[in-house]
Amino acid sequence: MRNPIIVALDVPGADQAVRLAREVAPAVGAFKIGSELFTSAGPDIVKKIRATGAAVFLDLKFHDIPNTVAKAVAAAVGLDVQMLTVHTCGGTAMLQAAEKSAQETSAALGRPAPLVLGVTVLTSLDTNEINEVGVAGNVGQQVERLARVASAAGIRGLVCSPLEIADLRQLLPPEIELITPGIRPGKDSRDDQKRTLTAREAMSAGATWLVIGRPIYAAADPRKAAEEILASLS
Ligand code: C5P
Repeated sequence: MRNPIIVALDVPGADQAVRLAREVAPAVGAFKIGSELFTSAGPDIVKKIRATGAAVFLDLKFHDIPNTVAKAVAAAVGLDVQMLTVHTCGGTAMLQAAEKSAQETSAALGRPAPLVLGVTVLTSLDTNEINEVGVAGNVGQQVERLARVASAAGIRGLVCSPLEIADLRQLLPPEIELITPGIRPGKDSRDDQKRTLTAREAMSAGATWLVIGRPIYAAADPRKAAEEILASLS
């Protein structure tokens, strides 16, 4: 079985990130580099994390005009990332440009194309807030709308909340990969996550990948925590 655990490297600096990645790499499938680590440590951090042998998910959530997003995706492919994110509300032309750039740049470099993942509605937003910025309907309707737009544009994966997995599985083609954060080993350890599932529940609901941060990096023994989560899936 492919290891579906993606560890969020939500640590302040390159040294801590590399130390954590080396420690847990044998027990996980990939590492997520977000905007804080990327901005503070620079693109070199991608190479350092790739050097552990694990895949890299570059979570910079590109959202710009199609030409700019295509170039940013090409630059990410040049860094040898295996997954990256774009905002689906950037629209069809932007999503198509992102996917095309991922395919063409990786083909030119002789690498497999990275998975371009669409972000729908950030889970920090509620219906009032999306209405305030001009979006009609509720969050669920907007997630569904954006998921359809992304899928029609050729996007092959989406980031979603644990509680959206089952509904998205109903409406999307089965080959679309679903990546979900909000994973907790038990219901008693939620931190600031309001909607959580266990790793096993999320996989049963149809997730393809699990983004896990604090339950691994804040554990007394991160490697053991990752191994236990992996064992809970079999
Ligand atoms: O520590 P925790 O497991 O909650 O970390 C989850 C990771 O997933 C963090 O990097 C967080 O920014 C990210 N994320 C999230 N919820 C979203 C989107 C991303 O928790 N809706």
